[in-house]
Amino acid sequence: GPKRGVMQRFTNQLQPRASSFKVAVLGAAGGIGQPLALLIKMSPLVSAVHLYDIANVKGVAADLSHCNTPSQVLDFTGPSELPNCLKGVDVVVIPAGVPRKPGMTRDDLFNINANIVKTLVEAVADNCPDAFIHIISNPVNSTVPIAAEVLKQKGVYDPKKLFGVTTLDVVRANTFVAHKKNLKLIDVDVPVIGGHAGITILPLLSKTRPSTAFTDEEVEELTVRIQNGGTEVVEAKAGAGSATLSMAYAAARFVESSLRALDGDGDVYECCFIQSELTELPFFASRIKLGKNGVEAVISADLQGLTQYEEKALEALKPELKASIEKGVAFAQKQP
Ligand code: NAI
Repeated sequence: GPKRGVMQRFTNQLQPRASSFKVAVLGAAGGIGQPLALLIKMSPLVSAVHLYDIANVKGVAADLSHCNTPSQVLDFTGPSELPNCLKGVDVVVIPAGVPRKPGMTRDDLFNINANIVKTLVEAVADNCPDAFIHIISNPVNSTVPIAAEVLKQKGVYDPKKLFGVTTLDVVRANTFVAHKKNLKLIDVDVPVIGGHAGITILPLLSKTRPSTAFTDEEVEELTVRIQNGGTEVVEAKAGAGSATLSMAYAAARFVESSLRALDGDGDVYECCFIQSELTELPFFASRIKLGKNGVEAVISADLQGLTQYEEKALEALKPELKASIEKGVAFAQKQP
């Protein structure tokens, strides 16, 4: 029964693995950081979880460290402890920054979060330049280009290892499509491309697996709901922030996929926002194959045979995505 399944999983986690990895969470005391740290603590592939924040991280770490899964929990508070947090880690996840309130767009967060991401990625460049970097802090369409510029300035940029986390868009698409079409949740996989804000989020419903037919009305309704999934949560929370639990779930999935790829699994695919040659835009979210060195292949086939609706939406998102990318690059280049 289900009870035995859960126990089985915990038991598996207590068995030593051939390889294991260190993961750092920057912004670990936050709404996303805390449940994300918990989910990472449950991964059998992790030997150590490094928690960093500017405040309140000691209590989170003490609490988490009592879970009897194998990984060690270490806490780091404030900029003076950041270098030690980062040394030797394989994956750095960055959910640091302020979230939206009702009425705000992700771009409204730019001024605060751009500086936070810049500072944190500078430290990543200095202390663990080979790590996979997962950027969650919004606006992802701009913070990822900022991170790229910072890494370039430091001479350590590897475009295959810098990722904007768009997994939540895929998770939402899978959930909404499964509910709408009465499909088994576990089976449904919808690629989501473009960026991570409003109309730049483009679910490719025609590429849904298992192959599924949608009416024009269903396509319109599902596309709009997936694009506004974040806002649905922001409004329901009414000023208390944005998605944290579903985001932590999605980020944990992307971490687990990255660790499986680092561990040599040759069958790991995820959608994410990366430097890209798939379109004329320098960064673009699409499905990729993950390997030991990061992005191993971009699945360009997803962009072939799009429906008219998808073609039109793809053209429509490009100007906004381009402007958000350029805003990030300009911010990073004007800084000393
Ligand atoms: P929160 O406010 O609950 O937590 C943010 C944490 O970052 C706080 O603990 C804060 O102390 C910390 N922080 C602030 N400045 C820092 C610095 N310089 N160094 C280290 N830590 C610092 O916010 P929440 O809800 O966890 O959201 C975090 C970010 O994630 C927001 O920018 C939000 O827009 C974004 N987000 C991204 C999503 C995605 O799909 N990529 C989905 C949902 C949220």
